[in-house]
Amino acid sequence: MMRTEFISTGFYVPDRVVRNDEFTQWMDTSDEWIRTRTGIQERHWAADDQATSDLSVPAAKQALERAGMKASDLDCIVFATVSPDYMSPGSGVYLQRKLGIANIPCLDVRNQCSGFIYGLSVADAWIRLGQYKRVLLVGAELQSVGLDLTTRGRDMAVLFGDGAGAAILGPTSDDGRGVLSTHLYSDGACAELLWCNLGGTANRPRLSAEQLERGMHFPQMVGREVFKHASTRMPASVLEALKVNGLSVADIKLLIPHQANLRISEMVQKQLDLRDDQIFSNIQRYGNTTAASIPIALNEALQAGRLARGDLLILTAFGSGFTWGSAAIRW
Ligand code: ACO
Repeated sequence: MMRTEFISTGFYVPDRVVRNDEFTQWMDTSDEWIRTRTGIQERHWAADDQATSDLSVPAAKQALERAGMKASDLDCIVFATVSPDYMSPGSGVYLQRKLGIANIPCLDVRNQCSGFIYGLSVADAWIRLGQYKRVLLVGAELQSVGLDLTTRGRDMAVLFGDGAGAAILGPTSDDGRGVLSTHLYSDGACAELLWCNLGGTANRPRLSAEQLERGMHFPQMVGREVFKHASTRMPASVLEALKVNGLSVADIKLLIPHQANLRISEMVQKQLDLRDDQIFSNIQRYGNTTAASIPIALNEALQAGRLARGDLLILTAFGSGFTWGSAAIRW
């Protein structure tokens, strides 16, 4: 049976490291508050001359190099981000241009923290259909320029970091390996519990000085609701993935949850009754990098030897929308 395998991965984070203490110069917060509520110690922020697609280029090039491929070997780019270079077009075409290639499709996925899993699901379907053979899937975010660095925005500002992760996906007929399933969910009833309400078409005027003054262009969340939904939806989607594949929690070699908040990951671990070695966390050093968090974590897990051929990897994510889901992968 034809399935989709991860041929290679790559990642990139910008050089500038922002430690929790730095936030105290802008807002009323503390390293202690940030660490205890989120687990985050530091995150990377992009330079002024970098846009989101610039972060994705080194991640994509690393994945290409590890696969022994040229950019011209790619059939398709799927680019997941909530922080595109521009309102339009999407960032996929900018990555394409910066890789020096043309005439292949570029799909931008706007599913926030769930973007990488949504993108994986689409790429997997295309690959199994035989439509594309070499898909570059990227999750990239540049959140630092869109944060309210005042006390008003402190609940969100301390959470997010910048970075990019990439994977090259292709077909395998090595039976039993590859993407076993993806499960995607959403609930638009919760859209305003985690959102950014300016810049689109719902407001009149679309953009005004008064709206900017009110900070409507900054992301906002109802933290407790996000916490509650994230820590129940992700485990439920993991259990669904296990059930459909006739597997159990004991079969999981590694679970990589979206790195939203260490406390959320700990709740996921508790609900699934996972041992420490079965779950991966690196939010301490990167913060929440939205659609990039899973591929960055995957790269680090591989580098750390936490995953070998044949192991069961489960990915799960939760984000604005609300959207959430899981992917089961026999590595
Ligand atoms: N520094 C200091 N104080 C802060 C900060 C900060 N950076 N941010 C918020 N606070 C304050 C609030 O203003 C509030 O103050 P008040 O009580 O005077 O009004 C107080 O801290 C709230 O603290 P807690 O009582 O601990 O509130 P709670 O237990 O609800 O925790 C938190 C808040 C951490 C945001 C929690 O709701 C949470 O972890 N939610 C999950 C949100 C999250 O991590 N989302 C990830 C991004 S979205 C995604 O990826 C899916």
